[in-house]
Amino acid sequence: AKYTMVDKETCIACGACGAAAPEIFDYDDEGLAESILDGNKGVEQVDEELEEDLLDAEEGCPTESIKVSTEPFYSTV
Ligand code: F3S
Repeated sequence: AKYTMVDKETCIACGACGAAAPEIFDYDDEGLAESILDGNKGVEQVDEELEEDLLDAEEGCPTESIKVSTEPFYSTV
């Protein structure tokens, strides 16, 4: 299982992640990315069929802001 969230502190709103994984990532009013699965909390399991898109997004982010884990995040970001 995979979980994901965006570190908005380092996201530069480049827009690559939403292109790679539109069913996982969208942008807020400032253009910063966020996971739409669970309000960017990283606690909702990513559907298996979306894992490849997730990997593409993770690899494509120039600032490594796409966080991926096999455990849920309990972040306060
Ligand atoms: Fe931000 Fe990286 Fe996406 S910089 S917009 S999280 S590809």
